[in-house]
Amino acid sequence: MSHPAESVNLNPQAKQMADESMVRCLEAQARAIWPQEAPLLTRYALPAEPRILDAGCGTGEAASRIAELFPRAHVLGVDVIDPSLELARERYRALAPRLEFQHQSIYELSAAKGAFDLTVCRHVIHSIPHADRVIAELARVTRPGGYLHIIAEDYGMLHFQRAEHDPRDFWHQVPPAFGASTGTDLFIGRDIFGILAPMGFEDLRIDFIIVDTLRVPRETFAAIIEAWRDGYAGPVGDYTPISRPKAVQYFNQMIANIRDPLGYALWLVPVVSARVPGGKKAGV
Ligand SMILES: C[S@@+](CC[C@H](N)C(=O)[O-])C[C@H]1O[C@@H](n2cnc3c(N)ncnc32)[C@H](O)[C@@H]1O
Repeated sequence: MSHPAESVNLNPQAKQMADESMVRCLEAQARAIWPQEAPLLTRYALPAEPRILDAGCGTGEAASRIAELFPRAHVLGVDVIDPSLELARERYRALAPRLEFQHQSIYELSAAKGAFDLTVCRHVIHSIPHADRVIAELARVTRPGGYLHIIAEDYGMLHFQRAEHDPRDFWHQVPPAFGASTGTDLFIGRDIFGILAPMGFEDLRIDFIIVDTLRVPRETFAAIIEAWRDGYAGPVGDYTPISRPKAVQYFNQMIANIRDPLGYALWLVPVVSARVPGGKKAGV
């Protein structure tokens, strides 16, 4: 499906996604999230040698963990940022050729209909416009009876303690303005049910990864917010009523909250899963 008259920037966060802060961010996010996410992935009824797609794979944090979790799987990671793909190939060379990385856009994948048993898409659909088009494309390449597994971020699901630079004000103002400027839905975690339900998927579920100061090491959680500060304070200044220096103050407040041994902070991360209708579950 091509859209020659496309006027919306399909990759509004391309600069942030290619920044070194994003490499740090994806590392820390994977360390925080994977221990709770792996058991969700093993629920799916997959064939003995599953074909798995990681759509928008970034630096391969999840694709490599998935290849290790399913030792007989073939895992393809695709992305549009070449340095991220090169880093992934370099870091996880030991898992090749069972794990491979290719430059492909998730709006228009090269795979045939039904090519994958499991299609994973983590931390992507909040950052791009027309998420519904991407989900339809992910469904196209997933076989009937196969699964979609999507981390759909929602920037209304972050909670920090109140302080001088109250993070509630930041998270109240920034996501709507940022989303409006970039044509993206930064609340897609709560909106995705309404996108998927009419598409006729089966076994539609929403689980939550709980990234908080009790379950995740404080330094790992702090590293996520530090990376967000370093990559996003600038765009927050450009796109929202909050200036760049003010954004840095807010992020620093959140980091201090996380590092405070008496502090509590929470990020709820929605994980959406669904089964493509038709076909049979593996082993059934
Ligand atoms: C926040 S990163 C998440 C990376 C990875 N999924 C993870 O969980 O570590 C989002 C990724 O989506 C990629 N992306 C954005 N638009 C894309 C597109 N049209 N096709 C493929 N990847 C895309 C970005 O380049 C970036 O690497």
